[in-house]
Amino acid sequence: MKWNKKALLTIEELTSEEINYILQTAYSFKEISLRPVKKVPALRGKTIVNLFFEPSTRTKTSFELAAKRLSADVLNFEVITSSISKGETIVDTVKNIEAMKVDCFIVRHKISGAAEIISKEVQSAVINAGDGCHEHPTQALLDIFTLKEHFGEISGLKVAIIGDIFHSRVARSNIWGLTKLGANVRLCAPATFIPPGIDKVCPSIFYRVEDAIKNVDAVYLLRVQKERQQENFFPSMEEYSSLYEFNVQRRGLIRSKFVIMHPGPMNRGIEIKSDVAEKENSLILKQVTNGIAVRMAVLYLTVGQFNG
Ligand code: CP
Repeated sequence: MKWNKKALLTIEELTSEEINYILQTAYSFKEISLRPVKKVPALRGKTIVNLFFEPSTRTKTSFELAAKRLSADVLNFEVITSSISKGETIVDTVKNIEAMKVDCFIVRHKISGAAEIISKEVQSAVINAGDGCHEHPTQALLDIFTLKEHFGEISGLKVAIIGDIFHSRVARSNIWGLTKLGANVRLCAPATFIPPGIDKVCPSIFYRVEDAIKNVDAVYLLRVQKERQQENFFPSMEEYSSLYEFNVQRRGLIRSKFVIMHPGPMNRGIEIKSDVAEKENSLILKQVTNGIAVRMAVLYLTVGQFNG
């Protein structure tokens, strides 16, 4: 297929064919990170701007490494020391940076829709690196890539997503992506963490972990996002972890076959215990490794194929 999108804003907007095309492209990039010289000239002369208004370890770093491995120049825009602190708007900020002839904005922002707003104002490529509780498309793509690498096929897989689904852009992107590729997705959380209307996309909802993980192939754990909560969604963190934390002993995980995934950052002792995070069937660091190849693919498709 021919790629014709200059922005990657959501998984919801992608067809299954487009998702598979990104995954195939990522496979071709994966071995570059295993070479002694981890560099190809695909984006030589292009400039990628990391525009992160929220903290990030994995996404920001892996976009920077992905861009550099494609030989692009990377500008890490410092929001705190920028003129945004003097009242300049985000749109004016990106238009001014674009006037310096850059090619792509990687945008993370606490407001849902921020990347879309920017994409309507600039000619450059725009990639959503997480917008509020809405979507985190490259996280879902690297998760799906990792599942496909492990199991060979996504169609028919049973995946339980457990935790703070209400505030999770990762969950929303994964629900769209996994469902489009034919996986069977289950959600599990306290009722207050189940977003209203999510049952229209994902009707399989559980409240008890023991029920949700029966016969699953993968368990995807989510962090409780305290920074997005204006009110209490459950009585205490102790109660939450007593009901939802994954630890080997409590879940009888010693014999379990399913793989464990987590987007990071992990809150050890709340949703996951170290004995699970470090278990041999944990794919958590493989997800991080695969993030480079997937982001190389996304940059290559959205930036490398256009010369305007
Ligand atoms: N998974 C993820 O988005 O992690 P960071 O917040 O560290 O980028």
